[in-house]
Amino acid sequence: MGYEWLADEPMFDPAVHLELTEPDLIITLADLGYTAVEIYGTATPIAASTPFRILSDEGARVMLDTARRLRAFCAPAGDRIERVVRNGCYRSAWLRDLCISPQVTRHLAAIYGVGVAPHPLSAHLGHLNYEPSRIEAAVDKWHHDTLPLDYVMMVTDPTRTPGGRFEYFTGTKAEAAALRDEGATPPPARVVAPDFPGPGWAIALHGNMVVHRGGPLVDLAERITMVNGYVSTDASIEDQSRNADLIGVDDPAVLYADWARFAAWRSREQLDRIIESVPFGLAPEDVAATLESAITDVQIAVDEMRAGPQQTEHYE
Ligand SMILES: [Fe+2]
Repeated sequence: MGYEWLADEPMFDPAVHLELTEPDLIITLADLGYTAVEIYGTATPIAASTPFRILSDEGARVMLDTARRLRAFCAPAGDRIERVVRNGCYRSAWLRDLCISPQVTRHLAAIYGVGVAPHPLSAHLGHLNYEPSRIEAAVDKWHHDTLPLDYVMMVTDPTRTPGGRFEYFTGTKAEAAALRDEGATPPPARVVAPDFPGPGWAIALHGNMVVHRGGPLVDLAERITMVNGYVSTDASIEDQSRNADLIGVDDPAVLYADWARFAAWRSREQLDRIIESVPFGLAPEDVAATLESAITDVQIAVDEMRAGPQQTEHYE
């Protein structure tokens, strides 16, 4: 039980390992066909960005080396993807410091246009995807994420990878579900595969709202991506998480403690608002409803923890 740090890692140094650039273009949820009602209450109206650079050449070199060393800890993530590493931030201090880097967090916040923080569930930080063992398998099935926001970063050189391109659907989750129910997947004409110029480049994604996948490889080859999760710092909006999907996937010794903190933080923020601002003279039912709403996240966490493993959602 427990995690051991990789030996002989370089110290993460933002001046050496980062080279942050701006994306050329931002795609909004409205562009994908979401209505104002569907967008309201989500973390940001942004859906995705075009590629931007996060890591310098040296940063990309350390990232690839770290991902190769962590490959020893690969495991399947449910029935959706064959080889992932979760909780790598408890094994690589370099990866941890990249994933919680204030510079990178501020950069993502500027792209999303809202305050964000690294995801409180530590398994969502520095998530690593590796190529499947079989050529016919997609790297990852069409899905939306169990968390609101993330970036997807190329760790191996995307210009040298035979296929295995990251793709997203230019429609809504409801459209993807309707396609699935007809036995179809998103048609090529409605799929975007961003052009990543090299390793260390990423796109920002509203992962819970944008249906996406890692496409199949043409030849079996090393293909690694890193996904780092974020949440809005505003706890009054939807949490856009399916933490129950992580039961049976993530290390329970870490998952439940992180989950408790996450839910407790969100409810505490909302309880604090009540302490500060509940007025005199409200109808009893309105006060009760306000209190009930404030503890929704805690109540859902309690129910889901007790209910146990759930079927994970995807579109195939
Ligand atoms: Fe994803």
